[in-house]
Amino acid sequence: MTSTTTGTTATALPTPAVPGSLLLLGRGRDLASERGVECPGDLPAPSDPDLVARAQRARAELGDRAFVLGHHYQRDEVIAFADVTGDSFTLARDAAARPEAEYVVFCGVHFMAESADMLTGPEQAVVLPDLSAGCSMADMAAITQVEDAWRVLQDAGVAERTVPVTYMNSSAAIKAFTGRHGGTVCTSSNAEQALRWAFEQVGGVEAEGPTSGKVLFLPDQHLGRNTAVLALGLSLDDCVVFDPWRPGGGLTREQLERARMILWRGHCSVHGRFSAEAVDAYRERVPGINVLVHPECRHEVVTRADVVGSTELIIRTIERAEPGSSWVVGTELNLVKRLAAAHPDKDVHFLDRDVCYCSTMNRIDLPHLVWALESLAAGRVVNRVVVDEETARWAKVGLDRMLALPGPTARD
Ligand code: 13P
Ligand code: SF4
Repeated sequence: MTSTTTGTTATALPTPAVPGSLLLLGRGRDLASERGVECPGDLPAPSDPDLVARAQRARAELGDRAFVLGHHYQRDEVIAFADVTGDSFTLARDAAARPEAEYVVFCGVHFMAESADMLTGPEQAVVLPDLSAGCSMADMAAITQVEDAWRVLQDAGVAERTVPVTYMNSSAAIKAFTGRHGGTVCTSSNAEQALRWAFEQVGGVEAEGPTSGKVLFLPDQHLGRNTAVLALGLSLDDCVVFDPWRPGGGLTREQLERARMILWRGHCSVHGRFSAEAVDAYRERVPGINVLVHPECRHEVVTRADVVGSTELIIRTIERAEPGSSWVVGTELNLVKRLAAAHPDKDVHFLDRDVCYCSTMNRIDLPHLVWALESLAAGRVVNRVVVDEETARWAKVGLDRMLALPGPTARD
């Protein structure tokens, strides 16, 4: 457990025997996951007709003492109160750039609030309006599993030529693991630069043969595979998937020795839904349509797309698109709906037939925001996310390596 919450009455549940097993939502805290599972506050009723007025009143009372950040996947009702909107990387940077704000109210998910806590001053409180707003992908890699996996690599004699790279969507403990083991953090905007840097630490991406270097990529197998194959020119055969639920990751020593990319068996439950069939169907239905997807999508989806990029790149691409052009977008639905509404001169579709919100992002709603803002205005710090000092120190090593990477950052 690397981050704690204060100002709440959360009771700890026993650690599940199996990390990542089904959580008892709505009660206590899950000690094996990076997040809490309850919001213990006295929430206003969702039907309260004064919610907007209450949020406005509390926000005005707090003034510059509070800074409200909204991730692009948040609901409209929450985005309406955000001082800035952005992706996980830019929001962490924005939080760091506001040292005068006593309270940083993070409307996003838990790993993002952890990163904001590590990048803000110790006197600043980072508040997540609902502690159960986690990320199912981040939950697919528990630090104990990652440490076990590293031992498997050590036993196979490959750990010393393996560099761990973790996606921002991971717990602070896993970011600290990469910092400790000579690795880095990355986002979907700089995954290529991060992988190139990582391979350079172990002989370069071009090196071949039995002693060539490797990357252990956590926790999103799709971002790792898509970047390695499409940006770095590795082959699908260079990639193996490490399954933390199987002995030895389900891999033989020979497979580990031969692999260049050891991909953690994790994925995003939202982006993982988009299918190659949906892309093909749209192309047939709307001739000339452009397909724009996030790199967390499966390889067969990404290879069928016209443009692949991070949340920020998706937004920029639609903003710069020709009026009258048609786009189908494979990313979270709140964002796609807002893009469609903001660009009525363009024809913007959503790639999945079914509703596909990120359910954990959606846990931050107006009642939780009102509760958090009113509590802060009354001097009660609720749902504070705090990363312990030792974890933060090593996680910052990984984050600083990422910030020092050459090339584009999330807003370029
Ligand atoms: P960003 O890094 O683009 O904010 O994405 C975070 C995320 O959760 C994507 O699913
Ligand atoms: Fe996590 Fe996927 Fe939701 Fe992003 S969209 S926060 S990766 S579950």
